[in-house]
Amino acid sequence: MDLKNSILTKSLPKHIAIIMDGNGRWAKQQGMLRAFGHENGTKSVKQTVEACAELGIENLTLYAFSTENWNRPKLEVKTLMKLLVSSLKKEIKTLQDNNIKLSAIGSLNTLPEKVHKELFEVIERTKQNTRMTLTLALSYGSREEIINTVKEISIKVKNNIISAENIDESIINEHLYTQNLPDVDLLIRTSGEQRISNFLLWQIAYAELYFTSVLWPDFTKQHLYEAIIEYQKRERRFGKTSEQLS
Ligand code: FPP
Repeated sequence: MDLKNSILTKSLPKHIAIIMDGNGRWAKQQGMLRAFGHENGTKSVKQTVEACAELGIENLTLYAFSTENWNRPKLEVKTLMKLLVSSLKKEIKTLQDNNIKLSAIGSLNTLPEKVHKELFEVIERTKQNTRMTLTLALSYGSREEIINTVKEISIKVKNNIISAENIDESIINEHLYTQNLPDVDLLIRTSGEQRISNFLLWQIAYAELYFTSVLWPDFTKQHLYEAIIEYQKRERRFGKTSEQLS
């Protein structure tokens, strides 16, 4: 049985999140500028999105630009923003053909107007799609998301819309940017770094973590399959004992 079919015989993660890392190092290895790495990274984005849709993964969230990434050299930020616009224009057809809904999380108002406009156009045009939700984390920072959540809930408490005693996980979930998404089941980070970098801190509470040394532009469908196979081997206990699970 090939990898894909063997994956389909077991339970699938409902939500995969990916920290796409290593574009710069990949470009350097080729003796090229960092922009070349990001351009090639978009090919891995496409392969991964298609592979997830084909497998029946319901939610895929990609860390495309963090709040900290604004501190990169101006030219690199500009290149990444241009790539986003061109990828959105180019891939709307892939999204429609595969019945994929686009969504975005982050401080989206800080994005340049062109990116914002293109992003919301694709979100609008794909909003009826049902096979998979692809969420792009753009100008995203998990601590910022949590701060916003606390602010919104505090205002509601102050205005007697919510009582402080009733604040629970579901109320917090409803106020996060990811309000319509289930918790992350599998978090993948490429390039050999083993850290979370301010990504979905609340949502990964029980996620299985998978780190691979593959640099993002080299990441293919096969690498995604390998990550899911590893996930399927893990025993997810959610704090219980093995005996309780069986
Ligand atoms: C990390 O590699 C990658 C990013 C900061 C950007 C990710 C963007 C893309 C893959 C392209 C556009 C995305 C979409 C959704 C169309 P790095 O630059 O930190 O690499 P390094 O750690 O090797 O320097």
